[in-house]
Amino acid sequence: MCGIVGYIGDKNCVPVVIDGLKRLEYRGYDSAGIGMFNNGGISVTKVIGKVENLQQEVKNQGLDSTTGIGHTRWATHGEPNVLNAHPHSNNDGTLIVVHNGIIENYPTLKAGLKKLGYTFKSATDTEVLAHLFDAYLKSGYPFFEAVRRGLKDVEGTYGIAVISTKEPDRIVVAKKGSPLLIGVGEGENFVASDAASIVQHTKKVVYLEDGEMAEVFKDHYHTKTTDDEEVNKEVHQIEMTLEEIDKGGYPTFMLKEIMEQPESLKNSIRGRLLQETGDVKLGGLENVLDHLLYVKRFLIIACGTSWHSALVAKSMFETYLRIPTEVEYASEFRYRNPIVGPGDAAFFISQSGETADTLAALKEAKRLGALCIGVCNVVGSSIARESHSGVYIHAGPEIGVASTKAFTAQLAVFALITILLARRKGMSVEEGQSLVSEFAKIPETVRGILSQNDLIEGIAEKLKNATNFLYLGRGYNFPVALEGALKLKEISYIHAEGYPAAEMKHGPIALVDENMPVVFIAPKDATYDKIISNIQEIKARKGKVIAIATSDDENIDQLADYSIKIPVTRSILMPILTVIPLQLLAYHIAMKKGLNVDQPRNLAKSVTVE
Ligand code: F6R
Repeated sequence: MCGIVGYIGDKNCVPVVIDGLKRLEYRGYDSAGIGMFNNGGISVTKVIGKVENLQQEVKNQGLDSTTGIGHTRWATHGEPNVLNAHPHSNNDGTLIVVHNGIIENYPTLKAGLKKLGYTFKSATDTEVLAHLFDAYLKSGYPFFEAVRRGLKDVEGTYGIAVISTKEPDRIVVAKKGSPLLIGVGEGENFVASDAASIVQHTKKVVYLEDGEMAEVFKDHYHTKTTDDEEVNKEVHQIEMTLEEIDKGGYPTFMLKEIMEQPESLKNSIRGRLLQETGDVKLGGLENVLDHLLYVKRFLIIACGTSWHSALVAKSMFETYLRIPTEVEYASEFRYRNPIVGPGDAAFFISQSGETADTLAALKEAKRLGALCIGVCNVVGSSIARESHSGVYIHAGPEIGVASTKAFTAQLAVFALITILLARRKGMSVEEGQSLVSEFAKIPETVRGILSQNDLIEGIAEKLKNATNFLYLGRGYNFPVALEGALKLKEISYIHAEGYPAAEMKHGPIALVDENMPVVFIAPKDATYDKIISNIQEIKARKGKVIAIATSDDENIDQLADYSIKIPVTRSILMPILTVIPLQLLAYHIAMKKGLNVDQPRNLAKSVTVE
């Protein structure tokens, strides 16, 4: 949600910042802006829409500077227009700031600054920061100190980068609740909200923690806390490659990410499945394994697609471990005075590792004494760092706003955790071996399902004009129904709902007529017969049935209007397979409607505001 990139060095900052912003565009794309030193002052260029518009505008102006900061915005306060785009500047245009996050007490600060004579151009919360820092600068404080003092007045969250003509040899950055890192180069340095934006320039990064700030010069940087204490920061080496964050020949990131699931799943399970002993190894859980075996209750907390993974994980845990498991929306958990204590272990699932509500829920669960385990994709992300222990899902960078490969990798990791704990709770070696060997086949099985892309595209062509969809599943596949519906609605803007299949009779069936496609996730499992009855009920009302069925199902073709077959596997692994056709179906419907699947309207990749 919103992206920040800045550069200080000897090169022209424009291509560095613009290219970096393009890589962050998935975080927000309603407007973009760049500000840089120019002829003793600061030039600011802002546009509505995509970073490519900004690139063209900067090119037209022929701008060139060795220090600059840029921003791609996802609107929180104030509609997406040029005035509300970042950077925001003080009244005389000598200081600019780019900001991710929300300044909660901005009305109070704004009122106070207005009394001091400051005038405001935008409807944003961020503009108060520019004037606030300016007020401290004008009181005689050096630049860094002026920012530090300003931040002490602020309530809310921020990742910021600021430049001032008063001390043009530095960029000042700070973090609280929104990610910010320094990219360490040779004779040049970078600042960014996300390592993906600077990975082509340096692999060395310093992650700021909440309450930390830095002044970044071209050949060194200096870190402190907002309480004015010195901090020494570790330099991390990031492993991400440029290829991983490019489209790799696919028309969209989303299709690339769907298609690379055989590889991303291999990466998720690599070195973790122990075929001979029918066991699992997860280094990140070794130090908490005993604790996990004796907790009274598991909590799994997440948002969106990650919350759907949590629902699948609940079924895995309760089936195999018999440990009561509650799944919570992070946003609800944190505000309802939850009953949590040292007898609980709480898992926090987040692709980005930066979702504000999930991070806040983690801090709350930690405060209440629960053992907190992060299940994240982005290495070094805030949730990963804040957790007591954790497991990375290793799906690789996910750029498409709609989550696909992270979902299947999350499911894989929870299946791993389940087997790991189940083996210690009495699962036999034979059962472990059987599960592990089935698990090892999953990446190639997924490849087989992906090869039905053309068939699924054909079904999408037939259904693309529907205005409502129902997705129905049971047991392990009920969350998959929710996920299928979410994928469709977020990228195609078609209204879709997921339900437990039998719940359909308690309301949603009223919606069914000849125009209503109903997607059934109907593998041959314990509830298969019941699902078949549900399909018949839909057919009796002339609904169109799309069935995701297993290859051993010979009768489904007579019942369903369209069927997509997937190989048979163990129930615990089935959601990894059943979701693949649903991802492709949503993808093709949206593409056929001419929509931008990578950057659907109103959405942003990581929701770092509450
Ligand atoms: C949907 C989607 C979102 C995210 C949600 C949580 O396709 O991507 O629903 O799953 O915003 O994000 P993370 O997992 O980064 O915490």
